[in-house]
Amino acid sequence: MQAREITEQLRELIQLDVDAVHAYDQALRALEPTPAVQGTLAEFRLDHQRHVLELSQALLRMGENPPAFSSDMKGFVLEGVTALRGLTGPEGALKAMRGNEQLTNAVYATVLAKPLPAEILAIVRRAYADEQRHLAYIESALDGRVWEGGEART
Ligand SMILES: [Fe+2]
Ligand SMILES: [Fe+2]
Repeated sequence: MQAREITEQLRELIQLDVDAVHAYDQALRALEPTPAVQGTLAEFRLDHQRHVLELSQALLRMGENPPAFSSDMKGFVLEGVTALRGLTGPEGALKAMRGNEQLTNAVYATVLAKPLPAEILAIVRRAYADEQRHLAYIESALDGRVWEGGEART
């Protein structure tokens, strides 16, 4: 892979993870009535911040500046960020986040199918494992539990 293609892939993932942090910000507000779920998703938000950090470090090592992490960044990749605006209720927030994580997982899988250098492959693989865990948890929270009075019951 050409260096330029690699840095493009890194930028795409960084943008995706920045979007995810914003989406989690909004979802966490909607999840206030369900503290256990909210706590777990707060950890997922940190995973995405770590991905932004590690992918940005990889870009810097390739001699490129990473995109700025601005809170008013426009042109979200994740449609679920928009869907979350004005949303209330834990179940709706989880459904929007399921869509976001499905897209995130699909993009990571596409990037991983490319012939990345070993060092970058290791970073992306680790991050993808986090993404798979995020999606699995959100799916189990939606599918395996009964929503009663806004709280998920196992
Ligand atoms: Fe990520
Ligand atoms: Fe995720």
